[in-house]
Amino acid sequence: MIATATIAEEILELKKRRRAILLAHHYQETEIQELADAIGDSLELARKAREFDGEVIAFCGVWFMAETAKILNPERTVVVPDAEAGCSLVEACSAAQVRAWKRRRPDDVVVSYINTSAEVKAESDIICTSRNAVKIVNSIPAEKPVLFLPDLNLGNYVKKETGRENMRVWQGACIVHATWHARRLARAREQHPEALVAAHPECGADVLAMADFIGSTSAIIEWCVSSPAREFIIMTESGVTHSLHRLAPGKKFFFLPNEACNCSECPYMKRNTLEKLRDCLRDLKPQVELPERILRGALAPIERMLAVK
Ligand code: 13P
Ligand code: SF4
Repeated sequence: MIATATIAEEILELKKRRRAILLAHHYQETEIQELADAIGDSLELARKAREFDGEVIAFCGVWFMAETAKILNPERTVVVPDAEAGCSLVEACSAAQVRAWKRRRPDDVVVSYINTSAEVKAESDIICTSRNAVKIVNSIPAEKPVLFLPDLNLGNYVKKETGRENMRVWQGACIVHATWHARRLARAREQHPEALVAAHPECGADVLAMADFIGSTSAIIEWCVSSPAREFIIMTESGVTHSLHRLAPGKKFFFLPNEACNCSECPYMKRNTLEKLRDCLRDLKPQVELPERILRGALAPIERMLAVK
């Protein structure tokens, strides 16, 4: 097996040769995050993808994030280490289902979480991320009915925060965040009585009710860094440890293993490896390719999101 340092050197060399930028989500393995030009949550990475002026985007995250980068950069090449890095939320809602919904309820404003396929985005009125979902729903006139998809937990959280009655919520769930329960969190609190709880809004309502802070991956990191507290129970994927330890050295972070696998990792995010990253930069595949109609259809609701201040 070739040493990690050698593969990292190959990646840096390929990055230069390809005029590539490397974008990494917080849930990526540490060795990938260490090589990235930008690390962030879904919203930050979407913005970064747009600002960049090279030729190739190597997106280390999951497929829907790389699709978003392609929609915002149709003229650039977008490659991913592993095309099978999907997301349970994307699987929870198809474009055909959204079209069927719109036929039944044509007045609904369709708000789609960024964790959706490009085809679903193209059927949507506006996109949101976990960081801006409340703001996006608040930007829609109060009298308009809303369909929020596909995440049940984020949707219910947004419904509560906005006080919006006329909002229907799809029933999809994240296979990582939705598996944590209040009972386990209560036990963790007993073990770490000084710790504050920070949770991602993809967690269930029982967990969110116990949280001291609720926010996107980057928002959780920012909050832990600025908080005077020294210990935290983190209710999101454990990849955030990389930035937490770098930005808040000396503080303690505890993660909750879920009952199915006894870990706090997203199996899709963890499909990406340094070897696969090197190969995708070398071979320029797997590559995100989308039909013109979808590229154009999905761009409008993403731009509407980016325009909301
Ligand atoms: P963030 O936008 O908070 O990074 O969330 C993306 C995601 O998939 C969380 O599971
Ligand atoms: Fe999808 Fe959940 Fe993985 Fe995020 S953590 S990419 S929502 S499966």
